[in-house]
Amino acid sequence: MMAAILVAGGAGYVGSHTVIKLLEKDIDVIIADDFSNSDERVIHAIEAITGKTVKSYAVDLTQKEEVRRIFDENEIIGVIDFAGFKSVGTSSKAPLAYYRNNLEILLNLLSVMQEQGVYHLVFSSSATVYGNPESLPVKESDKQKPTNPYGQTKVMSERILRDLAKSDERWSFISLRFFNPLGAHKSGDLGENPNGVPNNLAPYITQVAIGKLSELKIFGHDFPTSDGTSVRDYMHVDDLAEGHVAAMEYLLTTSNKFSGFEALNLGSGKGYSVLEILRAFEQVTGKKIPFEYVEKREGDAAESFASIEKAKEFLGWEPKYTITDMCLDTWNWQQKHPNGYNEA
Ligand code: UFG
Repeated sequence: MMAAILVAGGAGYVGSHTVIKLLEKDIDVIIADDFSNSDERVIHAIEAITGKTVKSYAVDLTQKEEVRRIFDENEIIGVIDFAGFKSVGTSSKAPLAYYRNNLEILLNLLSVMQEQGVYHLVFSSSATVYGNPESLPVKESDKQKPTNPYGQTKVMSERILRDLAKSDERWSFISLRFFNPLGAHKSGDLGENPNGVPNNLAPYITQVAIGKLSELKIFGHDFPTSDGTSVRDYMHVDDLAEGHVAAMEYLLTTSNKFSGFEALNLGSGKGYSVLEILRAFEQVTGKKIPFEYVEKREGDAAESFASIEKAKEFLGWEPKYTITDMCLDTWNWQQKHPNGYNEA
């Protein structure tokens, strides 16, 4: 058996890009995913892009015996946990499902890791732990005030990791609080593939550009920002994937002698308004993207962007791509796969 990293939720948008980066570094990977918000064809795309075969498990990780089976059948040396529900809106409508799913998966992974003596985990957290930022750029030490159950599950997960790390110094955890991922794989064969009408900005815009949706609805136009639309920190999914790999490598490098828990922001460190993103997509696509202003979404912050100094210092990680790169790659993916994976 080859020593491998277990990537829980490895068929998702960020998970799949991270798997590619690991494989490109000749690090063996096992994917575990229930494919509830992803597609089995992602595995084929990963294999085609990397020219490697990937072992994957279609499993419900809330079932502890399933998690145990994966560890029994493989030599796992570290875990990256992307598995979990991630829709802010749905989490307010179905909080129990969010608490149960997101926390149970992490608890199962950690208890089986403890049984098996595997002590390194990288956790996918979110900028949503900060809620509406009190000051900008957002620092890791800022107050955590999530405004929805999804965000609460991330805060609670980090609490669990912190407490566990205190109980036994063999544990080492890095929690990555990421801001807004954009872009797709260079090949155009892997990208964000939401079910139904997209909630997030970029897939919505590209579906307007390609003619599947008629116009973008911009949530609010009287925020206290330069053009009245809300500002976020967008980063290329490839940079985000690099950050996850850097974190895992950091934990596995024994000479770092790292034990405990560390939370790091991953973002570009810059803020862009909805209108700026829209204009960037218009340039890249060469199409006019119609929009109308509608009511603000409940709980949406006016402005949020990260301080990324800590991640730079800790991991030596830095984002490489520009907004134009992000829009180009998103558009390339959308054009090559207008219906996601549902095509010949
Ligand atoms: N927006 C629109 N119209 C849309 C969609 C989005 O105007 O149809 C605006 C939003 O108001 C926001 C920006 O575009 O200002 C980005 O919105 P997204 O929904 O793409 O992203 P959010 O910043 O709201 O949330 C994302 C993830 C969350 C995560 C959060 C962390 O969806 O899971 O980033 O900051 F928690």
